[in-house]
Amino acid sequence: MLTSIKSGTLKGSVRVPGDKSISHRALILGALATGTTKITGLLEGEDVLATGAALSALGAGVNKKDAAWVVHGRGVAGLNAEPGELDFGNSGTGARLMMGVIAGQNVRTAFTGDESLSRRPMGRVLTPLILMGLNVEGDDDRLPLTLTGATDLVPIVYELPVPSAQVKSAVLLAGLHAPGETTVIESVPTRDHTERMLRHFGAELTISHEKNGTAITVNGDAELDGRDVCVPGDPSSAAFLTAAVLITEGSRITLEGVLVNPTRTGFYETLKEMGADIQYQNEREEGGEPVADIQVASGPLKGVEVPADRAPSMIDEYPVLAIVASFASGETRMEGVGELRVKESDRLASTLAGLKACGVDAFADEDTLTVQGGKGVRGGGHIETHMDHRIAMAFLVMGLGAEKPVTIDNAAIIATSFPDFVEIMRALGAQIQQLEPSDP
Ligand code: S3P
Repeated sequence: MLTSIKSGTLKGSVRVPGDKSISHRALILGALATGTTKITGLLEGEDVLATGAALSALGAGVNKKDAAWVVHGRGVAGLNAEPGELDFGNSGTGARLMMGVIAGQNVRTAFTGDESLSRRPMGRVLTPLILMGLNVEGDDDRLPLTLTGATDLVPIVYELPVPSAQVKSAVLLAGLHAPGETTVIESVPTRDHTERMLRHFGAELTISHEKNGTAITVNGDAELDGRDVCVPGDPSSAAFLTAAVLITEGSRITLEGVLVNPTRTGFYETLKEMGADIQYQNEREEGGEPVADIQVASGPLKGVEVPADRAPSMIDEYPVLAIVASFASGETRMEGVGELRVKESDRLASTLAGLKACGVDAFADEDTLTVQGGKGVRGGGHIETHMDHRIAMAFLVMGLGAEKPVTIDNAAIIATSFPDFVEIMRALGAQIQQLEPSDP
């Protein structure tokens, strides 16, 4: 258990860990390429390491050498070792992207995960992959499942029924094996790291804007070449530090080298609308992605309406936005957040329960979360994280600004995405303490 306590000013300059989405993709494309891929800045969180372990069980070389990770690829269809069971731990991204990879390999393997991942729906990814030729053994769309790839995948045109970068990416990865063109159409833009990185590795990919959305087409029978990848800082991890600064008086920090791809920055856009002092400095491009140093300072905030079409660009940031909203004056209404129900936990339910336990007025329906701010945040809650790293970090942040300490039941889960979170927060001046179960 960890407890966070009302803290003084936070100050300093930090580098947040590598972006989780880009880290998974760098390992995967490295394994599907011929030759060597050198990755710097890889997130060494449990989620990404599970993807690395799965790829090495499938025959790719995945090793850390000095400060970089080196992947010796097997070629697009070359992952043919007998891997045994692949355990993706807590990671929906790892499991779902790897389903797209396995679809085109001459491999039969079981996919497993922890209790949280085993509750999450896989059907959204399996439906298009089955259309392409993947064989699935299992009772429903939950892990554990046994998958058998096919060497004669069929290309498809697939309109995403939910705005999900994981589904889009799985279909595009499978499309690398299908002769001809595989197209994914998305009506709302989702994170585009797979598209950017496929091009970086030499795949032929076209993007066109149609009346029903953006069509992304990948050419099958592709060949990928090993490349160097430099992983920028994760804006979803930076969000917790940003929120901590905003709710502790007199604080100011700089977050160095953060990814500012517009498909990921909805949280920062929203904070600016709330009146937050957030500046992007030294904007530049690194490894095909836009990056900046983000300077954040605390100050008064007001509640806002967050439109539904912004959800994909900040889908992982709603729990921590709800924390910020409780310290802002007035109401914050977040529309179009139904997808939160199928994340590492039911994030609508876990955020709402945590807010209530800390004395914040909030309510939710199927697709909306509303937080009443500006009434003072009592804190004092014991938060059930439900094996969800973002719930754990969001509520630790709340305790730094609340009147009474906030305690979370599971600190270990933070290592899935941000292993150094507590150390970094403490170095900035945050008071976070270990608590024994017997402590009051
Ligand atoms: C991710 C996509 C998002 C996000 C997840 C990472 C990715 O999920 O919540 O943390 O790397 O593609 P969905 O695609 O299900 O929205």
